[in-house]
Amino acid sequence: MLSEKLTKAINAQINAELWSAYLYLSMSMHFANKGYSGIANWFAIQFKEEQDHATIFMNYLNARDAKVILEPIAGVENTWESPLAAFAATLAHEQKVTALINDLQALAVEEKDYATQNNLQWFISEQIEEEETARGYIDALEKIGDNGYGLYMFDKELAARVYNTPSPLAKN
Ligand code: FEO
Repeated sequence: MLSEKLTKAINAQINAELWSAYLYLSMSMHFANKGYSGIANWFAIQFKEEQDHATIFMNYLNARDAKVILEPIAGVENTWESPLAAFAATLAHEQKVTALINDLQALAVEEKDYATQNNLQWFISEQIEEEETARGYIDALEKIGDNGYGLYMFDKELAARVYNTPSPLAKN
């Protein structure tokens, strides 16, 4: 049986993942409105991935016979000054999420909950990828600067992103 402390902490993480989904949906809508359909596509897939992260945690609570509690989702910003500003905000947000996942793992270790530690391993690897991707786009956008053709090509590249079901959900 999952401890009360871990159940509460994982429910808080579910809320954080759903807030992340809401943030990226807001970014997707903003860039769709600004005529960047590729960047909008990239954030729309990010929106789906964050919902998947919440689902993985919800499935885990259900599997451990713990109760999922869905709390209200706080509001998000709706305007970003540039693609660079949005990816900088993405990196800063993902760094916060990494810290939350690390805190969860520290709690699972403290409570000697090996199943939760195992479940969190996928998220620990995923966070490395999330931060690396955002950092890569920031590097590219810093090089592009105000170059219109560069931004056009960047948008085109992000249009090619496709959604893939994450491995913990593909097994279900
Ligand atoms: Fe669910 Fe982007 O971390």
